[in-house]
This record gives sequence, structure tokens and C-alpha cells, in this order.
Amino acid sequence: MENPLKLKRVHHVEFLVGNAKQAAFYYRNGFGFSQVAYKGLETGVRNQTSYALTQNKTNFVLTSPLQPNDFAAEHLKKHGDGIRDIALEVADADFAFTEAVRRGAKPCVEPHDMTDEHGTVRHAAIHTYGDTIHSLISYKDYKGPFLPGFVAQDVKGKDTGILRVDHMVGNVELGKMNHWADFYSSVFGFHRYITFDDKDISTEYSALMSIVMSDDSYSVKFPINEPAPARRKSQIDEYLEAYGGPGVQHVALQVKDVLYTVDRLQQNGVEFLRVPDSYYDLLTDRIGELEEPMEEIRRLGILVDKDQEGYLLQIFSKPVQDRPTVFFEIIQRKGSRGFGKGNFKALFEALELEQARRGNL
Ligand code: FE2
Repeated sequence: MENPLKLKRVHHVEFLVGNAKQAAFYYRNGFGFSQVAYKGLETGVRNQTSYALTQNKTNFVLTSPLQPNDFAAEHLKKHGDGIRDIALEVADADFAFTEAVRRGAKPCVEPHDMTDEHGTVRHAAIHTYGDTIHSLISYKDYKGPFLPGFVAQDVKGKDTGILRVDHMVGNVELGKMNHWADFYSSVFGFHRYITFDDKDISTEYSALMSIVMSDDSYSVKFPINEPAPARRKSQIDEYLEAYGGPGVQHVALQVKDVLYTVDRLQQNGVEFLRVPDSYYDLLTDRIGELEEPMEEIRRLGILVDKDQEGYLLQIFSKPVQDRPTVFFEIIQRKGSRGFGKGNFKALFEALELEQARRGNL
């Protein structure tokens, strides 16, 4: 197995947001994360506040700038709320950084110790598309609540069954998809797992192309999208305009029971895209019998797709900030390692309705 950076897992996803305190409330009460650690003024940090939230193997960090000249303030001004860092745990951050740069990655932060009374981790970072980075983190002897500099907090959320990050999708400019797919193959040793072209996923307007890059174990997957020429503005163009350039489009969260999770999230007020009811009239013919009751799938608006290996159940949230940028996918896999190609048409038509309402189609 090729794993040149000795990548272990997605360690956390860091969002830069306008009001981290309120965002933390949203992820606790909407998605059921627990708030486990904090840094900010009370811990001696003057320029930023960060909250660490966790649910099973999913870790989010929500960060806001406290000063207008802080880097995060510039990021916010340009992008609005969005994802800055897809942080990766590696066996050895020094080795991973040197190897990544040797393989063509642009360096962002040189390897250094992060230390507090709970111990030390090594940290470095490289750039990826747009202003997005990959932190590279390796553990020395750290035993604290999250990462050095954070103090423990214990604000429990009610677990909704979210397990781990399944995949994270990047939107890049027209003509740049292959460049970034090559980046993940040359730097990380990922392989091209699936390719979708505009014939698979164009509706009348909202065409896109996509390459799914995966590690050999299929535990870390980074699909890359670019807009495809269409009659009107592609959903990817809408994102690129709203975000002010390339960035993370969605985070897919793997769950153990999609019916339970989506029911909880909807009751908590998380908003989802809904496909027309006619989708469900055709579903049994397309997919066959499922273990899950069809009435529940229809009531919750869950989408189903099937391939030779099995099936998957998925649903997409509306954007989680005012700009039409980052959204979430909730996914349960029952054998399928796909991405829901059979749902693209229905989904993109639902998405185009939203886009038209925003005056962006
Ligand atoms: Fe996805």
C-alpha cells in the first residue's frame, strides 16, 4: 500500500467563522457534538478564540478572530464562514512535511513543537487548493483534552450517531480539477477512485465534473469538483463566486443509522435539501427492496443509490451559513463505496431551485 506521508486519519476540520461561540451552539444543538476544549482570552490567547467539538471520531474546531489584523479576519472577509484546515494525523509531522514538500506541496508552516502542561505534539502545514491548508500533526507525549493550548471543557451535546468524516469535497476553478487530483496523487500517493464527467452529472444548467481521490484503504477520500460548461451558471461557479475562490464544498459525515440521525437533525432544526416526491415513486423500481422502511426514507427525504457492492443512503443539508458555500452530507454505507451517482440528477434539480431563489442561476 502506498502511503508516502504515513497518513493515519483526518484529525480535525477547522472552520473559520464570524462568531465561534454561536457556531459551537449550532453544532452542539443541531448536530449533537460535545464541546470538549477551548482556547481564547481566558487562556492567554489574544488574537483568536477556538472551540473544539467532538462526536465519536469526528472532530471540529471553530475559530473566530478577535483582532481585525488577525489572519482569520482576512480569511473571513474574503470567504465568509468556511473551512480553513483539513488537519491530518501522520506518523511523523517532520517526515511528512519534508516528504510532501519534496513531492511538490507548497509549505505553509514549518515543523515545530506545540507544547503545554499535558505534553507535546509536532505540527506543520502545507497548502492545498485556494486558501485551504492541511495541517500535519503527530503525537509525542500529549495526553490533554484536544491539542496543546486548549483547556478542557465539558459541554455535552446529545449524540446523533455521527461517526466520522467519510469524505470532504473541494471545489476548484474550471480547468484545475486535474491539477489538484494530480496533487493528491503525487503528494499523498492517493489514487483516482471514481471519475464523473458532465454526461453523468449535468442537468440542464448545473453541470460539474468530479474526480474522487482516495488513499489505498478508502478511509480518507477527497473528491475534487470543477464546473462544467452549461447553459446557465453551474452550482460550482455559484460556490466559487460566493466563496471568493476554491474551497471545501461539503463535508460528508458517516453515520451508523441514517434514519435516526436525520430524524434527530431535522428535529434540531438543521435544514436539508428535498427532492420532489416523485423520486420516491420510482425508488423501489430503481433500487429494489431495502432493509429500511420506505415510508421513513420518504418522510425524511433520504436518497438511496445502489451499485454492485451494495447500497448507500445519503442526504444533503442546505448551506450552513448565509453565503451559498459549505454544506454537509449525512451518509450511511451498506456495502457501497460510491458517492450516489444515481441521485445526481434529482439532487441537482433540487439544488437549482435553491440557486434560482438566490438569483444565481
Ligand atoms: Fe459527497
